[in-house]
Amino acid sequence: MKKKILIIHGPNLNMLGKREPETYGSDTLEEIDRALFSRAQQMGVDIETFQSNHEGEIVEKIQSASRIYAALIINPAAYTHTSIAIRDAILLLDMPVIEVHLSNIYKREAFRQRSLIADVATGQISGFGRLGYVLALEAAAGLIKP
Ligand code: DQA
Repeated sequence: MKKKILIIHGPNLNMLGKREPETYGSDTLEEIDRALFSRAQQMGVDIETFQSNHEGEIVEKIQSASRIYAALIINPAAYTHTSIAIRDAILLLDMPVIEVHLSNIYKREAFRQRSLIADVATGQISGFGRLGYVLALEAAAGLIKP
């Protein structure tokens, strides 16, 4: 029934490929999503991906998640470090939540080393580039309640 996994990409991730490739890699978001759909199909799980540059839209998507999805994978991007609203929305969820970052945020500027999401997520994957999303998918699928 409720087996779908929601994957949220935060602000500026629609610019992947062009955006600081030395930090985020050369894959576009479409390529990352394609890799996720292909892995999901192999694993027999349903996924939906959503990208927004707007904090409120991300909050609303998370608010709707309880009814539809069994797990959330989220790269909140810059909102990781600023958004109490996204943190509070995640607190509404009773499902596994995996925080993903392409770069290793702990190797970067001090302001990126603090995540407002980490302690309300089930776990975090940071620094493995596009592979991190696939690892997150495996983690989420393994954690979904039967
Ligand atoms: C990011 C890290 C954030 O600090 C940054 O603002 C991003 C991407 C990552 O995936 O490494 O936009 O979340």
